[in-house]
Amino acid sequence: MTMQDKQAWSGRFNEPVAELVKRYTASVDFDKRLALFDIQGSLAHAQMLASCAIISMQDLKDIQRGMAQIENEVLCGDFEWRLDLEDVHLNIEKRLTALVGDAGKRLHTGRSRNDQVATDVRLYLRHAIDELIMLVRALQTALLDLAQHHTHTIMPGFTHLQVAQPVSFAHHLMAYFEMLKRDAERLADCRKRVNRLPLGAAALAGTSYPIKREYVAELLGFDGVCENSLDAVSDRDFAIEFSAAGALIMTHLSRLSEELILWMSPRFGFIDIADRFCTGSSIMPQKKNPDVPELVRGKTGRVNGNLVALLTLMKGQPLAYNKDNQEDKEPLFDTVDTLTQTLRIYADMMGGITVKPEAMRQAAFQGYATATDLADYLVKKGLPFRDAHEAVALAVRFAVERERDLSELKLEELQQFSDLISDDIYAALTLEGSLAARDHTGGTAPQQVAAAIARARKSLA
Ligand code: ARG
Repeated sequence: MTMQDKQAWSGRFNEPVAELVKRYTASVDFDKRLALFDIQGSLAHAQMLASCAIISMQDLKDIQRGMAQIENEVLCGDFEWRLDLEDVHLNIEKRLTALVGDAGKRLHTGRSRNDQVATDVRLYLRHAIDELIMLVRALQTALLDLAQHHTHTIMPGFTHLQVAQPVSFAHHLMAYFEMLKRDAERLADCRKRVNRLPLGAAALAGTSYPIKREYVAELLGFDGVCENSLDAVSDRDFAIEFSAAGALIMTHLSRLSEELILWMSPRFGFIDIADRFCTGSSIMPQKKNPDVPELVRGKTGRVNGNLVALLTLMKGQPLAYNKDNQEDKEPLFDTVDTLTQTLRIYADMMGGITVKPEAMRQAAFQGYATATDLADYLVKKGLPFRDAHEAVALAVRFAVERERDLSELKLEELQQFSDLISDDIYAALTLEGSLAARDHTGGTAPQQVAAAIARARKSLA
């Protein structure tokens, strides 16, 4: 074995690592995606080392020059990734040393791959969170743009997937706006805990060099340093927390997807989704399938799985760093990728939805959606609510047997159920009347929903 082929840590070993083991332990195939963050972290570390006179200014210049070239090679796809160099960190360090000599070998002073990788992952995730927050907001905007036109579009609101009370389509969409608002808040909150610097923890106990961690934190835009070196190199709770926030985003989009799928089914016929988000069937010529919402619903499974993978990865680890942690990357990357693609496509898809107000209205009309309004009417005339509920139940039964809506019953027919009913009842039994009556913050009255949309727009501005 020549010096050239030796692993960075191989001095104490008597035989080379088995080929199979090399492949098993190498992470470069997936962690090379951290390359630019690894370079960024190394440059800040080197700058600190130089300012603390741990390396010379000339070393710093050499490192900067070498890293500029490496960054270029990575961006152009010219960088030669070597599996035998295990991971992104050793690949870059080896190349740096080839380019600038001893300065490259001095870069790792006062540092370990343990605090290095934790730093890289945090830099990566911080960047990903910033992008994802923008994408969530873009989807929120798409929901607002659609809702804007539908404060007067009436559909049945459901409980137990049974027609419950009429709501506006805008009101329904705004429920998802609220979920996404909390999702964005969760990401922003998680970012605070991601944005702490592990570097300086070295392998686990800190380092004997006179380093300045706060300076590195400042250079890298971290809000502060991780306060305990053992914790800094070992815990991945920030990644788990992010994955949980991601799982919730997917869960919300999965619920909306389920609704889009139902609404697009001819049995509902509430909406149509633009052709570019659907596919046909190879055997049934009549089919147009809502593939995108179905895949979103399906991909929620993998994002939930990634969360469970990370929780499971962490739970048995004694302090401090263990190689187990190398397994944090693929689930994390997969969650980021899935969220990125899903949010992008979703914002676009919401812009391509055709609403069919007549079908929505018909469904609300046929479902006795204003029965509660009849009960409320009786309560306002002095009947206790439970008695009103009973009277209306009988009225609905009467109407069902005759296949008519409550508003289609004659006044005398309605009066069999309560003598408090007079002809002002018909205003309460219309779908419009039912919506307008729910006139408070959070209610479905058109003016309340319009105000909610206006507040929402402002919150995004
Ligand atoms: N590739 C490793 C990881 O992802 C880097 C840290 C390795 N440290 C070590 N002592 N083997 O966690």
